[in-house]
Amino acid sequence: MKTFLDYYNNQVRLSFEYEPFSTQAKHVWVICQYKGRWVLTNHPRRGYEFPGGKVEKGELPEAAAIREVWEETGGRIENLHYLGQYEVSGRADVVIKNIYAANLSQLIEKRDYMETKGPAIYDLLPENIREDSSFSFIMKDEVLKESLTYIKNHLMST
Ligand code: GTP
Repeated sequence: MKTFLDYYNNQVRLSFEYEPFSTQAKHVWVICQYKGRWVLTNHPRRGYEFPGGKVEKGELPEAAAIREVWEETGGRIENLHYLGQYEVSGRADVVIKNIYAANLSQLIEKRDYMETKGPAIYDLLPENIREDSSFSFIMKDEVLKESLTYIKNHLMST
């Protein structure tokens, strides 16, 4: 388990074990790839980030991951892998998120991307995300870095 502070100095615990902080995470985050490129969404307030959101009542987190990716990017998930979980202890509440890695089989252009401005595709993620105001704060702590390392070491064959 790793502990660190996020962009807003909230305490974060991150682990790549199976559901270490909660068996009923209320949030999901999906690191998506389509044809070897990263698929993010453009959130109108926060900026570019991997898609995700809240698990609805009665919904499984995997179903929420599939739904959020469709709503926010138009992506259809081919493979969904559970990666890990993180817990953010904010001033008001504690947020627990499951992290998934997904390969998309299709990226369908839609008229409406719910509360986002739709997909943003990157061949490579920039090195300086932390200093780049077009990126969301959720992309600016160790969760992204550690998750990308985990994907590279465990899920990518090349
Ligand atoms: P929405 O506006 O509907 O997204 O909900 P909200 O503003 O109530 O936020 P949410 O419940 O998603 O999260 C509450 C707080 O938890 C946020 O203000 C953040 O401080 C923190 N938080 C949520 N998701 C993340 C994340 O992925 N990373 C980090 N570092 N903090 C997060």
